Amino acid sequence: MRLVVVSNRVTIPDRYEKATAGGLAVALREALEKYGGLWFGWSGAVGEDTRQVQRGNVTYAVTDLTEAERQSYYLGFSNRALWPIMHYRLGLTEFQRSDYMGYLGVNRRFARALAGLIQPDDVIWIHDYHLIPLAAELRRRGVTNRIGYFHHIPWPSADVLGALPFSATLVRTLAAYDLIGMQTELDVRNLIGGLVDLCGARQEGRRVRLGARETLMQAFPIGIDVEAFRRLAAASVRRAVTPLRATRESLGERKLVIGVDRLDYSKGIVQRLEAFGQFLLSHPEQRGNVSLLQIAPPSRSDVPEYAELDRMSDEVAGRLNAQLGEFDWTPIRVVKKAYSRTALAGFYRRAQVGLVTPMRDGMNLVAKEYVAAQDPADPGVLVLSRFAGAAQQMGEALIVNPYDTHEVAEAIRTALAMPKSERIRRFEQLYHVIETTDIDWWRRRYLEALTGVPLSTGAVEPPRKTGTRTKGDSATRRASRAKGAAVPGRTDTKSRAVAAGHKASPHPGDAGHSTPVR
Ligand code: F6P
Repeated sequence: MRLVVVSNRVTIPDRYEKATAGGLAVALREALEKYGGLWFGWSGAVGEDTRQVQRGNVTYAVTDLTEAERQSYYLGFSNRALWPIMHYRLGLTEFQRSDYMGYLGVNRRFARALAGLIQPDDVIWIHDYHLIPLAAELRRRGVTNRIGYFHHIPWPSADVLGALPFSATLVRTLAAYDLIGMQTELDVRNLIGGLVDLCGARQEGRRVRLGARETLMQAFPIGIDVEAFRRLAAASVRRAVTPLRATRESLGERKLVIGVDRLDYSKGIVQRLEAFGQFLLSHPEQRGNVSLLQIAPPSRSDVPEYAELDRMSDEVAGRLNAQLGEFDWTPIRVVKKAYSRTALAGFYRRAQVGLVTPMRDGMNLVAKEYVAAQDPADPGVLVLSRFAGAAQQMGEALIVNPYDTHEVAEAIRTALAMPKSERIRRFEQLYHVIETTDIDWWRRRYLEALTGVPLSTGAVEPPRKTGTRTKGDSATRRASRAKGAAVPGRTDTKSRAVAAGHKASPHPGDAGHSTPVR
């Protein structure tokens, strides 16, 4: 079996990749290296070039987009129509027929190029909303291989999605897949509802029949490489990487609250700044003792809604700093640039509070990275939006409604005041969850469901059995022994449900996800 991965953007690894590549890119590359394979997609450049690069047993086949294709397929239909509507933001959804035609055109072009590269026993794994109709285009060209799709962002209910012109036609193309993976159970329910309501599909449990085809739908909550990230965080503190050293010097003994997101309206950055301002207004005794560092590298800046967000975040941070700051204390720092994963891991570890408050997000891997980076002997507290897919698994975070500024402000106060024993208890439970559902677990579970065969390293791991020791057990046990803290039980129903990828928190949530900088 050879694996073929298709994603909108493909980054061909270079010698710096270890420092910059995101967890997902690394995990997919590892899967490709294991089976040998092909990674196909957009080079990220505008032009007319198409090239193949061999790295070990992996072929990277990338193609440029023309400027017209970038405008219609990427900026237009993918990011001004699908992105907002998938994040439940009907008011921001901008539909243009010409963009939709461009989107279909690029999917057709990709299918044409890919069909010529596919071998009979290849298994094809297509990623994300840019490429929904790709399998249908491949089938049209006679490709009969197993084809899976993974949707990294939320999937809304049929009545929201149904407002998008041509949504029924688009959703119908999903029947060309053998397996569709979503981040959460809510997304799966919404997707099945959409296929039934918009396309007249027949549902049989997790399977949906449309015409002659049958497709399996399942939730596969994505994870991170917990152990690698934990090591990065520990190393960044030991080595005192430059931005960390500077932060330490400028913060002194002050506490740090951190947010890390791509500058995207789905991430709730402006609402988060307002909530931090509210926290300082409600608790004046905290002024001067704590700062918010918001790392927000710009993203999709050619889309007007993103340019507006850029302006608004500056305006709100400026207003709050002017209103609340002192000559020797700046309450909020917004840094609009990307940092290496090592530096990010160090920032997370330095921060007493991780503020992850998207308005809607597929998963949100920053939440998982923040936990992975903590010092087990003195961990920080995660404040997490109920509308991030991660909230389904991470019920031991302080779960908040990001639309409620006062609620988020109070959660910041609670987090900063939380006794160490309580922080350690919550951290250990969260660490256990992210470790038992890490990126390897996600990849293996998905590929086993797609291929129908256990992977070479053995069957997909079942939920941890009672008393089973894990790597994380030893990490948290080591920390717990050092501090004399109790190790959380591994036998409770919640942990088992989480390890099985089932809903563990009472809070509804959905999806989103991350790049090297999210
Ligand atoms: O999470 C969705 C996603 O589109 C990812 O596929 C991508 O890595 C990330 O957002 C960044 O988006 P873009 O490629 O548009 O910069």
